[in-house]
Amino acid sequence: MIRLNRLSYNFGPNWAIKDITLDVEKGEFVFLTGHSGAGKTTLMRLLYGALPVSRGQAKVAGFELHNLKKKRIPDLRREVGVVFQDFKILANRTVYENIALALIVRRMPKATIDKRVRAIIRALGLEKKTYTRCERLSGGEQQRVAIARSMVVHPKLILADEPTGNLDFDLSLHLMDIFRQFNTHGTTIVMATHSREVLQTVPDARIIHLEDGSIAEPPEHLFTEDVQ
Ligand SMILES: Nc1ncnc2c1ncn2[C@@H]1O[C@H](COP(=O)(O)OP(=O)(O)OP(=O)(O)O)[C@@H](O)[C@H]1O
Ligand SMILES: [Mg+2]
Repeated sequence: MIRLNRLSYNFGPNWAIKDITLDVEKGEFVFLTGHSGAGKTTLMRLLYGALPVSRGQAKVAGFELHNLKKKRIPDLRREVGVVFQDFKILANRTVYENIALALIVRRMPKATIDKRVRAIIRALGLEKKTYTRCERLSGGEQQRVAIARSMVVHPKLILADEPTGNLDFDLSLHLMDIFRQFNTHGTTIVMATHSREVLQTVPDARIIHLEDGSIAEPPEHLFTEDVQ
C-alpha cells in the first residue's frame, strides 16, 4: 500500500523528512509517533500528494508520487482518506452535506449516498446534529465530521493526524474502535498520535517512531507514560 525508498523532504534548508525507507502492507495498522516537530505531519502530507517529493521514491495506493503529475493527484485522493490537524470542513454546510460531498463528487447514486452517510453519522454518534451547520458544532463534533468524511468513501488507506486530539477519553476509545473496524475490513491505517492510551487501543499495531525526520527505535517510555 505504501512503499518509501529513501524519501526526503525539505522546507528550504530544513530537511523535515530524511531518507525514510518503509513498506506498509495492505491491511496494516501503523502508528506514527515522535516528538513535536519530528516530521509526522510532513510525512503524511507527502503520502497524500499535498507536498511534492524532494528526493527518493514513494508509491502509495499504486501511485508513484515522485512521478505524479498534478492532474493525477485527485485520482490518488480518491483512494486515500485523510483526517488532518488543520482539516477544513465547510462551516456553513450541515453535517450531512459535509459528509455527503465526498460521495457526490464521485457521482454515486443518491440512495447509496443517503444510506452510507446515515450509517457513518450513526456510527459516530452525530444523529442529533445531522442537519446542524458545522459552524455550530463543538471542536470534538467537528473532528468527528472530518473523520466521517474520510471514512464514508471507504478508502483503501486512511491517514489520520492526531484524529482524537480534541476528544474526551470515552469518545477517543469509541473512535478508535471504529478505526479498528475499518482496519478489520481491510482498510490500511496510518495514524499519528502522542497518546499512550490511543496506542494501547491497538496493541498489535506497528509503531513507526520518528526522530528529527528519520525512523528511530521507539523509546521504552512510549509504552509506560504519555509523550508530548
Ligand atoms: N510549512 C512549513 N514551512 C517550514 N517548515 C515547516 C513547515 N511545516 C513544518 N515545518 C518544519 O518541519 C519539521 C517537521 O514538522 P511536522 O509538522 O511534520 O512535525 P510533527 O511531527 O507533525 O509535529 P507535531 O507533533 O507538533 O504535530 C519541523 O521542524 C517544522 O518546523
Ligand atoms: Mg503534526
